Amino acid sequence: MGKNCIVAQSGGPTAAINASLAGVISAVKASENYDKLYGAIHGIQGVLRKNFMELSVLDEDFIERLSATPAMYLGSCRFKLPDYKEDEQPYKDIFGVFEEYDISAFFYIGGNDSMDTVAKLSAYAKKIGSNVKIAGIPKTIDNDLLVTDHTPGFGSAAKYIASSIREIAYDTYIYDVKSVTIVEIMGRDAGWLTASAALSRNEFSMAPHLIYLPEVSFDKEQFIVDLKRELEKHKNIIVAVSEGIHDKDGNYIAASTAKEDKFGHAQLSGAGKALEYLVKEEIGVKVRSVEINVLQRAAGHMASKTDLEESINLGSSAVSYTEAGETGFMTVIRRLSDEPYTYEIGYADVSKIANEAKSVPVSWINEAGNDITGELIKYVRPLVEGEVDGYYKDGIVEYVPIPHLVK
Ligand code: F6P
Repeated sequence: MGKNCIVAQSGGPTAAINASLAGVISAVKASENYDKLYGAIHGIQGVLRKNFMELSVLDEDFIERLSATPAMYLGSCRFKLPDYKEDEQPYKDIFGVFEEYDISAFFYIGGNDSMDTVAKLSAYAKKIGSNVKIAGIPKTIDNDLLVTDHTPGFGSAAKYIASSIREIAYDTYIYDVKSVTIVEIMGRDAGWLTASAALSRNEFSMAPHLIYLPEVSFDKEQFIVDLKRELEKHKNIIVAVSEGIHDKDGNYIAASTAKEDKFGHAQLSGAGKALEYLVKEEIGVKVRSVEINVLQRAAGHMASKTDLEESINLGSSAVSYTEAGETGFMTVIRRLSDEPYTYEIGYADVSKIANEAKSVPVSWINEAGNDITGELIKYVRPLVEGEVDGYYKDGIVEYVPIPHLVK
């Protein structure tokens, strides 16, 4: 059996995915069972291309800075492996590379699409009787993975969203004119991140006054009724909308849905802009839309300490579980209590997680479908806790260099 390992990252970036990578690197370096750790550049495609960099040579200082660096040190891909029964070649190639590099364990850090790769590789390893352990480590700002209480990256993105909504509210309240500001938030077809905007409310500001999630069909007429009612009560209205809101027939409100990726996901964008035009036409007050877009995924300067710590643990635990002989799993977080917030790390069968999405429970959304309940606040509040000491140079954030990704 081989002694080396490979790690790779896949899907959309987060502020915490490199923290999980740091956890894997530290654990492999400390391991008596494993020798070298290779990082594959651009996910599973990097394995197929044998595009590796050695990570076990990195020193502790670099690994610590890496854990607070957003996005993906190893780059990403959105690549779907075929079913091995239909096309076995990529599997033969990947397991050929595993053999060539003396690989004992493969770690894939990603969301539900990436867990499809973990599930397929584990099934193939079983079929050919390979001893290579295949492990998934969760991440996604969307927070839509099953089994785990929440996903790494979500807490940091939620912290950024809630803080940004509060800042937008401060900006908006200064003018003594009626206004509507619509903020569009990522999350695809899950509303977790948009819902977390509610954390910005305090004793004098109810912003966001209205919250629309993709879990509820969006009705444009009802939206205008909701807004008019709120404008009677307040001067400035802030609205949080998910990029994935859609009408009862499933048509996205997004102004443009670019081509689908390999997993059949459309790139959603412009729901806020579409509603801005609607409000201009129907109500006629000052209106603006803000599409937070990629800013919410890589805001390392506002990462949640809780999120980064959990992410490191999920990475290092994945290494320990493979050393104990486990394969075909994803590491998960089990919440033990809300106040004080405590959790433990475990693992679950990845085939029960891949390709599925966890929605916000209907009972955590108000009856009118334009706000969330206290349950959701209780759930998300501990995940944004704690600040990370940032690294700055000449007044600007300074992260670990990534020349290998820049062409
Ligand atoms: O899956 C995470 C995510 O950030 C979603 O919230 C978003 O819709 C999607 O990725 C965007 O993906 P891409 O960067 O590939 O366009």
